[in-house]
Amino acid sequence: MTHNTPKQYGAVARALHWWSAALFFILFFLGLYMSDLDDKDPSRSTLVQLHISLGILILGFTLVRIYWKIKEIQPSPPTTMTPLQIKLAKSMYGILYLLLLTIPIAGYVIVTADGHTPSFFGLFDLPNFISKNEALGDLAEDSHEFLAYTAITLVGGHILMALKHHFIDKDEALLQMLGKVEEK
Ligand code: HEM
Repeated sequence: MTHNTPKQYGAVARALHWWSAALFFILFFLGLYMSDLDDKDPSRSTLVQLHISLGILILGFTLVRIYWKIKEIQPSPPTTMTPLQIKLAKSMYGILYLLLLTIPIAGYVIVTADGHTPSFFGLFDLPNFISKNEALGDLAEDSHEFLAYTAITLVGGHILMALKHHFIDKDEALLQMLGKVEEK
């Protein structure tokens, strides 16, 4: 089913979630790998281009996810969760959404403050609102790195919590995002 139900996430929310998760890991490790390459390495600029394009894609996914989250009904949290746990989980989702917006925005500032225009696989360019500014570029680079490390730490916690729900609490939290809860 395309839409969410009171029991679980629908196909659109699930696809956006799992594609964003895959893109996030690819972007994180690609980012670490390419930043370590020597400036003269011939593969560096291709990898940076790929990172920028996939980064624009995850930003697009995040905007669509936020729209879809506002528009759709949300599945009820498992009954095993206390009101405090539900509040903490919701705050964590809010922080993750914020990071999925601010990391690409900082990436955009790195590229534009360096005098370049971010392109999406050569198909279109993002508008360039920022003129060349080395200090701003350096600040954006530090922020991008710091936010990316914060995000991978929180995503690690998020995965551990999902596994705890599934294997220890034996509730439906993970199954809701896999579309495996029986509807009846
Ligand atoms: C959720 C999305 C993203 C994640 C998780 C991510 C992650 C990373 C990481 C981990 C690094 C390496 C930081 C370091 O160790 O120095 C990096 C570097 C970089 N990222 Fe991203 N990134 C994302 C989106 C973007 C976007 C949208 C852009 C541009 C529009 C971008 C542009 C860059 C650039 C230019 C660098 C290289 C800085 C250098 O020259 O070393 N990133 N990114």
